[in-house]
Amino acid sequence: MEERAPSGGRSPRAARAGGPAPRPVRLREVSAERAPRLPTGIGELDRVLGGGLVPGSLVLLGGSPGIGKSTLTNMALGNLAAAGRATLYVSGEESAAQIRLRAERLGAAALEVPVLAETDLDAVLATLQAERPEACVIDSVQTLHSAALESAPGTVAQVREVATRITEVAKRQDTAVLLVGHVTKEGALAGPRTLEHLVDCVLQFEGERERTYRTVRALKNRFGSTNDVGVFEMREGGLVEVLDASARFVGEATQAPGSVVLAAMEGSRPLLVEVQALVSQSELVPPRRVCNGIDRNRLALVLAVLGRHAGIGLGTSDVFVNVVGGVRIDEPGADLAVALAVASAARGVATDPSPLACFGEIGLTGELRSVAHPDRRAQEAAKFGLAAVVSPARARTLREAVQTALSSGQRAQRAA
Ligand code: TYD
Ligand code: MG
Repeated sequence: MEERAPSGGRSPRAARAGGPAPRPVRLREVSAERAPRLPTGIGELDRVLGGGLVPGSLVLLGGSPGIGKSTLTNMALGNLAAAGRATLYVSGEESAAQIRLRAERLGAAALEVPVLAETDLDAVLATLQAERPEACVIDSVQTLHSAALESAPGTVAQVREVATRITEVAKRQDTAVLLVGHVTKEGALAGPRTLEHLVDCVLQFEGERERTYRTVRALKNRFGSTNDVGVFEMREGGLVEVLDASARFVGEATQAPGSVVLAAMEGSRPLLVEVQALVSQSELVPPRRVCNGIDRNRLALVLAVLGRHAGIGLGTSDVFVNVVGGVRIDEPGADLAVALAVASAARGVATDPSPLACFGEIGLTGELRSVAHPDRRAQEAAKFGLAAVVSPARARTLREAVQTALSSGQRAQRAA
């Protein structure tokens, strides 16, 4: 069903037909100047990018509607404009007036950004070439469309064509381009995913729209690591970097039965987050398993091991698990936190001490397995007053970990 991109001049083979074969060059002799980066002035974003935008590169920023993509990119361009850089904000989604209203909330710098409300690709390319900005935002890649293709905007062929033609111009004139792309909750929409191989860097903006915290992480980065995560909070005046995320999450932790603190690694940075669980008698067969912020399959595994190897059967209970603050945790180290939160909820006793920090992967035979960076996780926990960490270093099995975590609460219960 795919259309062929009509862009001319992209067939070097035809031009060289019959000529001498090109010679490869030894890597040592290849000149590779490192152009200075363009810092966006948003520390968390710059860190995830690997130090700022790279001139001539393409960054794809994906995220669901309302997460804050337009806000983040407008803020970034505002900072760049304030630093004397030539910028351009292209919007195919909102009118210039709408963008202005947002920019008013973001402050003076954001209002200095030149804006073009346009959906026609050729018009956008013409402006790009005329203005030669150092940094440009296309919001969003799905709304632009090339008249050369018949398909509707947002289709795979259109999105590819838009990205390819913009890349050509960007590389030629050293413009750093931030392509905004919508991703639906299911990640379904034609678009961003099909562009991943075309761009230099793929950033994912995640979080729940209704919640405060959002994270930006790199899924791919030709110019930096994919380990870093930026944490933001949406406030009245735009996105604010959350530099003390651990302190906040620990401070807000409830200390009630069903709550534990996970010492997680978000890329190269340790992060303490609260994991909560609720266990209640079910009316349904099969009972409900609802989770937010962790993988469903992982929850199923943890519940199975709890039942089989730690004596906590949940076959007739609904289980709800939530990572507080809208944070998504995608690492095996979260297993133990999920298990202990559920165990604590099922038994109705708070952990001892509470809040209790923990981390570790759970194996199918009930053993605890070590995970990356145990020292940094433990240090982060200690830094925020959670010295007694339950980890694979302290408990060999899930059963032991449950006993350690819930011991004094159970003693109290027995005494009562
Ligand atoms: P937006 O950046 O438009 O999201 P996206 O481009 O990803 O669709 O903004 C998302 C939400 O953020 C919007 O519902 C309004 C809210 N918001 C604030 O709470 N404070 C602000 O300062 C701004 C600009 C937006
Ligand atoms: Mg938007």
